[in-house]
Amino acid sequence: MVSLALDSAALAETYDRVSDRQFNHGKLLIDDLQVSPGERVLDVGCGTGRLGAHVAELVGPSGEVVGVDPLPLRVALANSKRGPGFRASVGRAEDLSQFADGSFDVVFLNSVLHWLPEKLGPLREARRVLKRGGRLGISAAAKERPHDVERVLEDVLSSLGLTGTAEASGGTTHKVTSDALRSTLVLAGFPRPKLQIRTFTDHFADTEDVIAFNLASSFGNFLSNFAPADAARVRGAFEAELERRRTPEGIRLERHLIFAVARADG
Ligand SMILES: C[S@@+](CC[C@H](N)C(=O)[O-])C[C@H]1O[C@@H](n2cnc3c(N)ncnc32)[C@H](O)[C@@H]1O
Repeated sequence: MVSLALDSAALAETYDRVSDRQFNHGKLLIDDLQVSPGERVLDVGCGTGRLGAHVAELVGPSGEVVGVDPLPLRVALANSKRGPGFRASVGRAEDLSQFADGSFDVVFLNSVLHWLPEKLGPLREARRVLKRGGRLGISAAAKERPHDVERVLEDVLSSLGLTGTAEASGGTTHKVTSDALRSTLVLAGFPRPKLQIRTFTDHFADTEDVIAFNLASSFGNFLSNFAPADAARVRGAFEAELERRRTPEGIRLERHLIFAVARADG
């Protein structure tokens, strides 16, 4: 179960500081979408707005980028840190009713879809607010290829005899496979989606960095659902297992993300 009630000012600040990974793969998604000057863009699940601000530079003064996110602390940080070309408000992917039908050229969700319990409703909302032929871009964790951090956690939990999957313990309970996402996109009004999985290799200085990154990225959900005694055991074993993946560049962990780009039907 993903909670939106675990975020804090410290986690929001940390996310803004450590989210280079999401920012960098987000820029690839924006490249795929070929955003142009003058376009109107919606960033769903904008977080602290780093990627939205990058897109604002691409659309320039004749365009507009707006973001929505359910976490008020992250929205406040986005509005205080980013330039005037990007504005965020509190909102959810499931309900974009603050925006008119056909009012955007581009809608994107960068590292957001795997937090949504249900996909069809949000994708239909994205279709509704897009102009005909408008583009949708999604990057999301691939259910068919778990991240290394989840594999490590899975091994740790099984060695400790704890039930539950690493996905649930990490908070990303709502991952989707490429096949399921493709079918859902078609149902939502995106007839010919293009999908690919890209792999990213991360190096972390130490185990604290791995945990801080995952806690901030999951707005407090990472390793949050254990009884206190189990939490200490899990964390100890998790850190020991991470250390085994240390290389000269740091602790090496791979992530696998679906990138999907689709046009709204006419
Ligand atoms: C890993 S962050 C990604 C933030 C940003 N897109 C980026 O690229 O840095 C995931 C974001 O999804 C947001 N989120 C969670 N549930 C959501 C929902 N139902 N609708 C929209 N966004 C949601 C979270 O609040 C969080 O800011």
